[in-house]
Amino acid sequence: MSATLAQAAAPAHTHAHWSSRAGFVLAATGSAVGLGNIWKFPYMVGQSGGGAFVLIYLACLAAIGLPILVAEWMVGRRGQKNPINTMSELAAQAGRTRMWALVGVSGVLAAFLILSFYSVIGGWALAYVKDAATGVFAGLDGDRAGALFTGMLGDPGSLLLWHTAFMALTVGIVAMGVTGGLERTAKLLMPTLALLLLLLVGYGMTTGSFMAALDYLFRPDWSEVTGQVFIAALGHAFFTLSLGMAVMMAYGSYLGQDVNLLSTARTVVILDTVIALAAGLAIFPIVFANGLDPAAGPGLIFVTLPIAFGSIGGGTILAIMFFLLLTFAAVTSAISLLEPVVELLEERTPLSRSAATVTAGIATWALGIAALLSFNAWSEVLILGMNVFDLLDTLTSKFLLPLTGLGVILFTAWCLDRDSVRQELGLSATGFSVWNAVTRYIAPIGVVVVFVSSL
Ligand code: PHE
Repeated sequence: MSATLAQAAAPAHTHAHWSSRAGFVLAATGSAVGLGNIWKFPYMVGQSGGGAFVLIYLACLAAIGLPILVAEWMVGRRGQKNPINTMSELAAQAGRTRMWALVGVSGVLAAFLILSFYSVIGGWALAYVKDAATGVFAGLDGDRAGALFTGMLGDPGSLLLWHTAFMALTVGIVAMGVTGGLERTAKLLMPTLALLLLLLVGYGMTTGSFMAALDYLFRPDWSEVTGQVFIAALGHAFFTLSLGMAVMMAYGSYLGQDVNLLSTARTVVILDTVIALAAGLAIFPIVFANGLDPAAGPGLIFVTLPIAFGSIGGGTILAIMFFLLLTFAAVTSAISLLEPVVELLEERTPLSRSAATVTAGIATWALGIAALLSFNAWSEVLILGMNVFDLLDTLTSKFLLPLTGLGVILFTAWCLDRDSVRQELGLSATGFSVWNAVTRYIAPIGVVVVFVSSL
């Protein structure tokens, strides 16, 4: 009934919809599962108190990540438009200023800026698939593994090639549309990703160092827990769910009324967390079995792991599997970053979907070139004391993401009609008062704390 009403009230152009709840869950999980899960989460856990960090992180997901995820979907679904128009129209309907559209502006801008450097890193993953397949890792020692990575960063031609390939792949998928591109890709890549991960965890169990990895990831060490650890956990809960960049809002705009937002969000959060933990159980047994340093931080994947792959039997296959896994995770996130920009262009300009995708893709690609040059030719070009890559990262993760996330949660909690929200979430009176407390106070305060302390 309400779906028919919404459609009747919809504007002349037909707005796409996911073909099923499962398709939506896979697409949203594809967005959530990215470099953050495979590359960042494992080393964060290892460095920040193991099981203690995991517990804090789970609390952050429940109290802040999940409510903001639901809020973004709810706003997107109610608006059925690109994030900027959605915010503007919902605000007008609620009798508030259309200035709320700025939340959409900052989200779409964040998505655009993040994709430009995310694609550069996606390119690294592709480059390492090729290196793995051509036996470059064989017999690699620490020095040569380091040189391989810094050599890649120092070569603008090769970075450009891989960035271009990754961006072309992203544009090709997004141009095929919401169901034919985004959903179909997620349905293909996410199960494959899960299978690859399972096989790698299975290999980890045979190394003899699986228990050491379990210990490293899960044994709580509260002495490592500082205020910084809380802030890192909160920031990561935000990033890993793709919040604050209009991505989930755009995905919500293709959602029908029949999907239960709370239970779907719970599913996506659980899948995202399980995959992040599994990534740790794939990586650390290999690291420990080869006597390598688990705390290598950012270099863990691109420097430490290739050393291991180069020395173990079947290392070539394992390496190909691992970097394909990383590439798939990056692709399903990259397409979700392009989507809000494309949705905006599609609805606000005369461009067709394909033309909008190519236009957005070229603009992102061009900015990505500035990002990749900051590892080599432009490494001395500093703006506000940062190279372009770091500037893009800082501007988005420290400013745009928290501000967008805060805007969305405050709008949902304070501006949307209370009864309709309660009905939409299917909550009891008690459940709704918990929801209200979380979305009005706990989550916003959490975001503000991270925002302020990161400055
Ligand atoms: N959630 C992704 C990750 O954990 C990152 C991402 C950010 C994806 C923004 C899409 C949009 O890596």
